Amino acid sequence: MALSRTPSPGGSGWFPVARSGDVGGTPLQVGAGDRPWVVVRLRPGGEVTALSPRCPHRLVPLTSARVVDGALECAGHGWRFLADGRCTAVPALGADAVPPPRADLSAPWAVEERDGWVWIAPERTLHHRPPRASPATTAEPVPDLPAPAGPVLTGLEPALAHAWHPVATTDQLVDGGWLAVRLLGRTWTLERRAGAVTAGPAPWGVREVSGVVWLAPEQPRGLDVPADEPAGRSAWLPPRRTRTPAAALLDAVLDPNRGGGAPVVPEVVLARGGFTGRWDDGARRVSVEVAAPFQLLRREELVDGTVRSLLLLVQPEDADSTRVHARVSVHGRPTRVELAAEVDRVERDLADLDRIPHGGPGLPLTPRDEVHVPADRLGLALRHALADLLVSARTIQEDDDVAAA
Ligand code: FES
Repeated sequence: MALSRTPSPGGSGWFPVARSGDVGGTPLQVGAGDRPWVVVRLRPGGEVTALSPRCPHRLVPLTSARVVDGALECAGHGWRFLADGRCTAVPALGADAVPPPRADLSAPWAVEERDGWVWIAPERTLHHRPPRASPATTAEPVPDLPAPAGPVLTGLEPALAHAWHPVATTDQLVDGGWLAVRLLGRTWTLERRAGAVTAGPAPWGVREVSGVVWLAPEQPRGLDVPADEPAGRSAWLPPRRTRTPAAALLDAVLDPNRGGGAPVVPEVVLARGGFTGRWDDGARRVSVEVAAPFQLLRREELVDGTVRSLLLLVQPEDADSTRVHARVSVHGRPTRVELAAEVDRVERDLADLDRIPHGGPGLPLTPRDEVHVPADRLGLALRHALADLLVSARTIQEDDDVAAA
């Protein structure tokens, strides 16, 4: 019998969760004691391991994890977990670092195979073995994954109406033309007449800044657009749609350790309406400027003197649809070929937006709901900025309610 390290709350007794033959090296979500678990064999033909079903870092479901060297490796950022739930590796901390205690997964009291079934006892039970299976034995129902305790910002968050959002690039709207756009689960029609852009149904505001059409459904607190640097040559990429929620997408793009390499810890300065950050990974000096909710300007200086920047503007269309507007710039006097190469590089980087592992329909805003390490400072700053935006939007709404009373 495989005794687990950490007792956990939940139902008592033994629960049949899956047929033995269905559990292999790919994590499978099951249910026992009204709680979800993942079961997996960390060695071919070895014992079955059961663990809590979400990575504590960014709550990514561990059904997307893979088995590596006898451990379960999360698809998010490569944290590794042993059969007892202990976290043994956090790549962003470096090879010799000790993961924080909260990084551990929980495990049930016991897991055992009997009569062709995998059984889980979530907590200590008087019966040290599961009962015999019968023809009537069926797997326990699989409960939904637990939701974070605090607020979660989705692409349909009402407070996001109190902000400016990019809805099109200027060149998408020719004079005399119109364009239907989605934002926060609603459709607006943009029209351009004699150069001026209007939107219907009438939002609080619509305007053009930095080659982008912006729309604010309700009174925003200001137009927070990162200051772009038009020096050199630049080009807009074709808008790209993804199912990754807007906040999770920006969180991933802000990860300074995305793509591997030596771990870096960014410096972060919080500012009203957003934040700035910077780091140096030896090959390049990077600075980022973020305006809440979802506007990012990233500038990179390479060791060969090349300076390039990326303006990334994220449009939350629906709960499961996000549109990304991106402009790349190469500073100085680049040739067209050099600019084309940079466009190609960024397009490849953004091509896997749909494959960003994330924890659900939105971003948890309460720091205690996730486990953060120093490399996550930009992600933490994003959560603070978005939480501030929520508070600010509610204040505007309350002021409006008072004025209307
Ligand atoms: S390592 Fe699991 S979500 Fe980051």
